[in-house]
Amino acid sequence: MTASLISTLPGRYYTDPAIFAREQENVFEALWFCAVRGADIPAPGDYRTVQIGRESVLVSRSRSGTVRAFLNVCRHRGARLCTEESGSVRRSFQCPYHAWTYDLDGRLIAAPNLTSMPDVDRAEFGLRTVPVREWLGYVWVCLADEPPSFADTVIGAVTERLGAADAIEAYGTESLALGRRVTYDVRANWKLIIENFMECYHCATIHPELTEVLPEFADGYAAQYYVGHGAEFGEDVRGFTVDGGEGFGTLSGLAAGQDRRYYAITVRPQVFVNLVPDHVIVHRMFPLAADRTVVECDWLYSPEVIGSGRDISRSVELFHRVNEQDFAACERCQPAMSSRSYADGGVLVPSEHHIGEFHDWLLKRLAG
Ligand code: FES
Ligand SMILES: [Fe+2]
Repeated sequence: MTASLISTLPGRYYTDPAIFAREQENVFEALWFCAVRGADIPAPGDYRTVQIGRESVLVSRSRSGTVRAFLNVCRHRGARLCTEESGSVRRSFQCPYHAWTYDLDGRLIAAPNLTSMPDVDRAEFGLRTVPVREWLGYVWVCLADEPPSFADTVIGAVTERLGAADAIEAYGTESLALGRRVTYDVRANWKLIIENFMECYHCATIHPELTEVLPEFADGYAAQYYVGHGAEFGEDVRGFTVDGGEGFGTLSGLAAGQDRRYYAITVRPQVFVNLVPDHVIVHRMFPLAADRTVVECDWLYSPEVIGSGRDISRSVELFHRVNEQDFAACERCQPAMSSRSYADGGVLVPSEHHIGEFHDWLLKRLAG
């Protein structure tokens, strides 16, 4: 092959249910997975259920306020404990089948006729717990028997991209308030979404508003992936908004070099973090099938901006359009993944070569 071009993955990697099943096991169930925003379960008994790989995971808050996660499976005969995507219980989870009841720490506390079975060890029949970490205001869970180091895999990915360990801290993401959440149901494989996010060869073609705000994206070079580099706002641009108009005040902790810049970070396998001076945008992907990925996107602002009731719509609109443009591109590729034309895959131009490293990473994980 010509030196300028390297191969992508063959089309079947984006369509084959058997490959998706291996990804569920070796990627989504093996790594830290960003499941819910902590503020979505503010009080004891609040919960969310999240599909991670092949498992439904119940994320909730205990009486002491600690976040806990459990496999959403009753230990009696396996009924799904919570069937809603979100909800709130008073002080326990009760299985809707035979009423086995678990406290907010997952302990079995009651079951019909339990007292007549004195040999049943309640501790042994508690819900299976799942390791949890909280970072950037989100709850990350890991289904691996031995979770990889959170510091190396999650924080390390952010540090490596930004070039400094404290660069992300300056944004104070965990204390920001949710301004808007949009859920996109994308008819495309999750890898198409990651690959798209990793390159800017497409920016000039499909992102007119974004390239207006970030002129360096218009030349198609993946400048966003040089360590420590953030794309600079155009000279006349006053804020990261759909028309380049005024945004909000710069977040208080930012260093001078972080102002007027956009940083894009990928945390494998399913998170994108986007940093701009006055807000942070967090994407979480929930891969549900080889050809379907739900993406939940949060726009986070300082609590003062949200509390003041100021209009954030032009601020949100910029990246909402970028999302729609990107996901339309991914959906345009998905049906072609099963074409005979793509049986051996396609090619990456030099500004996309770093995507090859993502493919190498994936193949290594799939090999176990
Ligand atoms: S399956 Fe849950 S109580 Fe029987
Ligand atoms: Fe894009």
